[in-house]
Amino acid sequence: MVFLPCRCSSSVTGAPTRPHQHYYRCLDRWAGPTGADRSRPDRFARRYPAGVPVTVRRASEADVEGLSRLAALTFPLACTPQTPADLLAAHIATRLDPASFRRHLGDPACTVLLAEDETGADPVGYTMLLLEEPSDPDVARAIRHRPTVELVRCYVHPEHHGSGTAGLLMEHTLAAAAGTGARGAWLGVSEENARANAFYARHGFEPVGRKRFLIGDAWEDDVVRERVLRTP
Ligand SMILES: CC(C)(COP(=O)(O)OP(=O)(O)OC[C@H]1O[C@@H](n2cnc3c(N)ncnc32)[C@H](O)[C@@H]1OP(=O)(O)O)[C@@H](O)C(=O)NCCC(=O)NCCS
Repeated sequence: MVFLPCRCSSSVTGAPTRPHQHYYRCLDRWAGPTGADRSRPDRFARRYPAGVPVTVRRASEADVEGLSRLAALTFPLACTPQTPADLLAAHIATRLDPASFRRHLGDPACTVLLAEDETGADPVGYTMLLLEEPSDPDVARAIRHRPTVELVRCYVHPEHHGSGTAGLLMEHTLAAAAGTGARGAWLGVSEENARANAFYARHGFEPVGRKRFLIGDAWEDDVVRERVLRTP
């Protein structure tokens, strides 16, 4: 079986979409068949002058169902309409299911953080860190700081995009990354994902190389970004 990687995926076949088209179309998908909430992204954005009313904590076993629902909802936002629907569905069913989150939580190399708001419902964002030497030779050559930790996932509910939730989650994630003893953190992100690239750049992740991988029968390129971690 072929799986999508656990990162934002760019187009698999055909011409690439422009970033804002990509984003809108994904939000259309999220809005569901009625398209009731279909609009420009800033319609969802909320700014909080008094601070972001979310808290961040480590995920536990009790969170796996909510994390799985959030992951299923947010993963398609990082994919273009060209991403084959069967690969997307297979990835969600087999990599973002509660059992997969349970396995990650039981893996000592893995750290899962979540952001939640005052409603106490499903999390509104999550990140996943993996403390391990990268197996991809392109990544291993590109990154400069060791030991290293990979920011494998960084996803925020679209209602919280532009709200500061992602920034708060990133602050906690960087602190947790530094707490693992790693000297650097790296991630792979599609160059088409302009919003995520701007977000990562603002949080100190600089482009240091590229990596390639196969989705179905098409090669994709990611930007490899890295930043140094401050010791806690
Ligand atoms: C990536 C993500 C976590 C960032 O959270 P966010 O709340 O959207 O981030 P912010 O609004 O704080 O920052 C986004 C930046 O992109 C900019 N931006 C927004 N749309 C953009 C676009 N189309 N092109 C370029 N930049 C854009 C914003 O202005 C902002 O930059 P600034 O703070 O310098 O003004 C969130 O968008 C998300 O979950 N996306 C879907 C999943 C995804 O792609 N995850 C990354 C996988 S590698």
